[in-house]
Amino acid sequence: MPQLPGTDLTVSDLCLGGNVFGWTADAPTSFAILDRFLDAAQPQPAFVDTAESYGDGTSERILGDWMAARGARDRVVVATKASRGQKEHPLAAAEIRTAAERSLRNLQTDRIDLYYAHYGDETTPLEETLTAFDELVQAGKVRYVAASNYSPGRLTEARETADRLGVRGYTALQMHYNLMERAAFEGELRDVVRAQGIGTLPYFGLAKGFLTGKYRAGEQIDSPRAKGAAAYVGERGDRVLGALGEVAREHGVPVPAVALRWLADQPTVVAPIASGRSVEQLAELLPMRDLVLTDDQRRRLDEASTR
Ligand SMILES: NC(=O)c1ccc[n+]([C@@H]2O[C@H](COP(=O)([O-])OP(=O)(O)OC[C@H]3O[C@@H](n4cnc5c(N)ncnc54)[C@H](OP(=O)(O)O)[C@@H]3O)[C@@H](O)[C@H]2O)c1
Repeated sequence: MPQLPGTDLTVSDLCLGGNVFGWTADAPTSFAILDRFLDAAQPQPAFVDTAESYGDGTSERILGDWMAARGARDRVVVATKASRGQKEHPLAAAEIRTAAERSLRNLQTDRIDLYYAHYGDETTPLEETLTAFDELVQAGKVRYVAASNYSPGRLTEARETADRLGVRGYTALQMHYNLMERAAFEGELRDVVRAQGIGTLPYFGLAKGFLTGKYRAGEQIDSPRAKGAAAYVGERGDRVLGALGEVAREHGVPVPAVALRWLADQPTVVAPIASGRSVEQLAELLPMRDLVLTDDQRRRLDEASTR
């Protein structure tokens, strides 16, 4: 069972992305997706990712309503995020305290398992941010804190600051990383993550839907993500989809499951984050859990995505 390094937090092989709840999936559909995910994750706890900013709390509220309706809180690892870009000092202590209380209310729970700083905030000293997070941990309202969208320099500074303050600090990094987006993570940032002995949770695991194979030249896809995903259409995208299709056929599994397995197998990765807006879409992601890629298949995927 995947475990966040240096913590006692065990999670499911796939982390379910929650930005669809209340956006591209209405509440009843979100409940059905969560039911299917919880069922498929067993005996692992269902690892679900949300944020205070998704639908201005709507995603958290749907997840909270579902956990309450199903009595499922103890079988879910809840990750959510503080810091909304439009705030003047998003990671100031007072903002973090208020955001955490609001998230706890939205989620109808007494604890957040993994609480992220959604984006770095250069306007607030790291001492203040990390102390505020640690107070939440000491109060039992948060189990572990993590960073999202941090630069290598800021992550290093955060580690040094946490050590100086004598607090645990960030135990993981959530970053944009998938078969189509490798360069920004696989250099200095991954070196820092490795040196700190923390884990990576890559988001946009399916490159906004591109790695499902549904975006091809000339195809019109009905999705608010279509513009972002269609940007990957081209020669390199064709190569990656070609290699994914080949490996998927060799195993008799859907294409997105292969993309997520490749990501899950990368150094420092604990669990990739991806979403589906229907139970049918989710069903195509779930086989990633039992999929074992050969060295040759991994090499073909690597070559197709780096050339
Ligand atoms: N930390 C951050 O700053 C940050 C930023 C972004 C995301 N995230 C997190 O990462 C999660 C994952 O990102 P994401 O959901 O935006 O992108 P993603 O996982 O790369 O793409 C998921 C989307 O692909 C499409 N899809 C999935 N399975 C499919 C299938 N079988 N067939 C056809 N289409 C399929 C669906 O969108 P359509 O049906 O609409 O095409 C689905 O919502 C988010 O939910 C969020 O929790 C974090």
